[in-house]
Amino acid sequence: MSPRVYMFAGFALLLIGVQVVPNELPALELANQGDIAMSGIVSEEIGTILRTSCYSCHSNETSYPWYSYVAPSSWLVAKDVREGREALNFSQWQDYDLMEKLEKLDDIAIEVGEATMPMEIYTLMHPSAKLDASQRERIVAWAEEAMDKVLEEEEETDETVDEGM
Ligand code: HEC
Repeated sequence: MSPRVYMFAGFALLLIGVQVVPNELPALELANQGDIAMSGIVSEEIGTILRTSCYSCHSNETSYPWYSYVAPSSWLVAKDVREGREALNFSQWQDYDLMEKLEKLDDIAIEVGEATMPMEIYTLMHPSAKLDASQRERIVAWAEEAMDKVLEEEEETDETVDEGM
């Protein structure tokens, strides 16, 4: 047999072999009480964009595509979802304190404004998650408004506390 056939056979065996390595995909959790959708700062329109373009990496509601169950792509998906959730998790929005919320919203405006999010590798595989210029503008405008809203809400809570004393 030619060396090429050996190489191909070796590669095929390797691909089969790596399937036994656990993929460690982060767990799924639906119905999250602390989701940003319940916070009153997202309209339905913005919520839909975030869901389509960001939730697979930035929430507990990842929809895992078929290639996330096949090594080695499963390792890349697991890493993006793990690191994505760590950086920003829309499912656990209500757990963030004021500073964290402001920071995340500011980061969202920057990342989406510069078109670095959603990650290109993701939009390649999920063309419907790609944001056009007008969607990007709406997300940036929303994130900036939401920062004001979050601040106002915080001031209102402070006042209620003051009145109660
Ligand atoms: C394919 C997975 C994936 C998708 C889809 C995705 N992100 Fe990310 N995102 C990541 C990962 C991984 C990180 C952490 C590493 C990094 O900063 O590159 C991250 C980081 C971030 C950060 C934090 C940056 C910082 O400076 O800490 C923000 C904000 C963000 N993403 C917003 C978004 C928004 C908004 C969307 C949707 C429009 C989105 N991402 C879509 C994977 C993703």
